[in-house]
Amino acid sequence: MKRAVMFCSMVLCASGCDRPSASPAVQHVALAGELSTQSAFDTNCRGCHSQGAEGAALPLVNANYWKVATDATIIQAISHGQGRSMPAYLASEGGPFTAEQITSLVHGMRTLWGDGQPGGGGGISPVLTAGSASAGALVFSTACASCHAGQGTAGSVVDPMYLRMISDQGLWSAVVYGRSELGMPAWNQAMPGRPTGLSAQEVCDVVSWISSQRVSNEKVTK
Ligand code: HEC
Ligand code: HEC
Repeated sequence: MKRAVMFCSMVLCASGCDRPSASPAVQHVALAGELSTQSAFDTNCRGCHSQGAEGAALPLVNANYWKVATDATIIQAISHGQGRSMPAYLASEGGPFTAEQITSLVHGMRTLWGDGQPGGGGGISPVLTAGSASAGALVFSTACASCHAGQGTAGSVVDPMYLRMISDQGLWSAVVYGRSELGMPAWNQAMPGRPTGLSAQEVCDVVSWISSQRVSNEKVTK
């Protein structure tokens, strides 16, 4: 695995640390529960979802992400967490935010980074659905092996430590959205020899194959 997973000790704070600075002339009156998107993101999320190759988790400043991912799927991940490393931010699950604050954060991020995209686009379902590992082995050998070697041994794809920390949904996201800063292409887009990228089913199949390489007692199902 090329990059170490970064667990950051963060000061998780809700609206309390977002108080508008005391400027007598301009006074921003926050609506009840409203978060300032950029500062809430910088304080709570950026340590893991940073933009450069040092980011442990998927960068979110990516118009392709906001084109495909729907508000519902994003709110779900932030509220309840995802896999082993994405914390739950909903207050009732021990997190710092109310449901309204999470919704406003998601709308704010979409406005900042989504290029006006409503989500649910790009011709691909926004979540992982059932796949076939055997069909996925074929997808892997034709679409992925040129960079990751026949059995995925080049790079982190089947690295046991990588698979220990990433969920199947996270694998799906890595394949669909890519990690352009690492040189990993986005597969909902045209690729050499594949003018429409991978189909929704092919993505789910290849994720099923990668997941089948997990050490069996380490399944990250959520
Ligand atoms: C053009 C070369 C290239 C191709 C083709 C390619 N990858 Fe990658 N992929 C990379 C590079 C470079 C990385 C970053 C190094 C690493 O983590 O292995 C990467 C990383 C990944 C990761 C880890 C992402 C993360 O967040 O750390 C997964 C999963 C992955 N690739 C799956 C696939 C699958 C599945 C395919 C085929 C559908 C594929 N890759 C095709 C180059 C490629
Ligand atoms: C401790 C590191 C960490 C922090 C802090 C963190 N995340 Fe995450 N996040 C992750 C990881 C890792 C994943 C992928 C988990 C998986 O699938 O295994 C993830 C997944 C996500 C996803 C789902 C991406 C997808 O697959 O579609 C969203 C959305 C998200 N995070 C948003 C946020 C927001 C917003 C914040 C701040 C409020 C935040 N995260 C804070 C690590 C973190």
